[in-house]
Amino acid sequence: MKEWTREARYRVLKDPEEIRPLHARIAASDYRLRYHIQPVTGLLNDPNGFLRRNDGSWHLFYQWCPWGAVHGLKYWYHVVSDDLIIWRNRGVCLKPDTVWDNKGAYSGSALVADDGIYLFYTGNHRDENWVRTPYTCLVELMDDGGARKYEKPLFGPVPGYTEHQRDPKVEYSEQTGKYTILLGAQNAQKQGRVILFESEHLDRGWRFAGEVKVPGFEDFGDMWECPSIEHISGKDVLIFCPQHITLPGRGGSQHHNGYIIGRMDYEALTFTPEGGFHVLDFGFDSYAAACTTNIDDPDHALIVAWMGLPDAEYPTDGEDWQGALTLPRELTIRNRRLIQQPLSGLKQLRDGELAFRSGGILPRVSELELISRGGDMTLGLFTRADGSGGLRIRYDDAKREMTVDRSGMEKRFNVDQGEARTRPLPKGLHHLRIYIDRSSVEIFVNDGDAVFTTRAFPTADEAHCAFDGDAAIHMWRLKDAVTDDFTV
Ligand code: FRU
Repeated sequence: MKEWTREARYRVLKDPEEIRPLHARIAASDYRLRYHIQPVTGLLNDPNGFLRRNDGSWHLFYQWCPWGAVHGLKYWYHVVSDDLIIWRNRGVCLKPDTVWDNKGAYSGSALVADDGIYLFYTGNHRDENWVRTPYTCLVELMDDGGARKYEKPLFGPVPGYTEHQRDPKVEYSEQTGKYTILLGAQNAQKQGRVILFESEHLDRGWRFAGEVKVPGFEDFGDMWECPSIEHISGKDVLIFCPQHITLPGRGGSQHHNGYIIGRMDYEALTFTPEGGFHVLDFGFDSYAAACTTNIDDPDHALIVAWMGLPDAEYPTDGEDWQGALTLPRELTIRNRRLIQQPLSGLKQLRDGELAFRSGGILPRVSELELISRGGDMTLGLFTRADGSGGLRIRYDDAKREMTVDRSGMEKRFNVDQGEARTRPLPKGLHHLRIYIDRSSVEIFVNDGDAVFTTRAFPTADEAHCAFDGDAAIHMWRLKDAVTDDFTV
């Protein structure tokens, strides 16, 4: 692996031309995706500021380090869409160019107000001794895609917590007439926490309201990144990423993205769980999910996540890029669980149905639908011509559980996180919808009951599919929906 010096990781991007050759090289990679948001160069991590403007356009930003597959100086890169399916690169929006954010414009969220669009983010300040101070900062998104920064941060760190206080999620309540910001934090005992701030004005008067108590989760990881409380179908859902904690069935994985359904009391500053912690995704590569409720239906939200993980290496690191976003998904609640479904508009990407044949070629940009007639089954993606290897999706009817196993792929990575993930399906397996995009696989089980998201990097030999079981299988080749152009 490449050794990155601090200077190289935190270099300021002065002239986009500096990375044009890097982009040209990366764009030729066999693993570039065709209908997912991916970094123009370098590393992509969290989705930020997911919003819909009043003109109907959709905007998303991602945490971006231009230089390579490394977490260094972070920018917000901006992508836009009219339909959440076809995305265009819009260029860099937020640059770490003040003293407050001198070592990165970290994650945050957006607020669409009558008079403009506001982005709240964490300014990652470090002094000459590399001591970190996080600031909660505000910018206004301008029509030309740029950001107008407010002169000073809204507030700095609060006492009683470590340097880990970040990822503002902003909300306005019609009921109270107040704005609130949630931050992920670590307390002095190194336990993950959520802290809340409030103000009557979005650009001033912010005060620390206190810590949000989550009974039963006092000792659940040492930091909670990217927290948000979403309001869906009359329920409150606390979504967050607890770090440095292992969970049953998730190998040696230390960082997770999950949720608790419950009731948030903003007066008592208490989130009362109505159940346990559930992971959002049963696959391998999913983290830092961001939601938007800026849609017409109060029973739905939209969710998009980083198709990657902190502290992980990927086979494209040697090509100087890493990460992509998941497809945006529709989020609802059913039977006390979050349900994620692909957007129906994705059908517009279908480019002719192909006959599925076990042992046949698997198109690298495709959608598969499997309707089970019962019993055990194994579906192999990216298998070799003789049917061996590949990514195996197995359903065991006696145990009523489904497993996704990537240990058969030639390019293995993040092996210490476990190479197989299993999810019980008490009501059996009925339906799978699978989106394949060159180096990603998203598997929607039983109409959104569970999702498995995984990266997979097939070699030229791993070009086939294999099936053993009783099911009807449909397969479509899909059209491209992102252009890999150099816009910085
Ligand atoms: C989560 C995270 C956030 C932080 C950002 C920096 O992946 O660590 O907590 O704001 O990434 O890129």
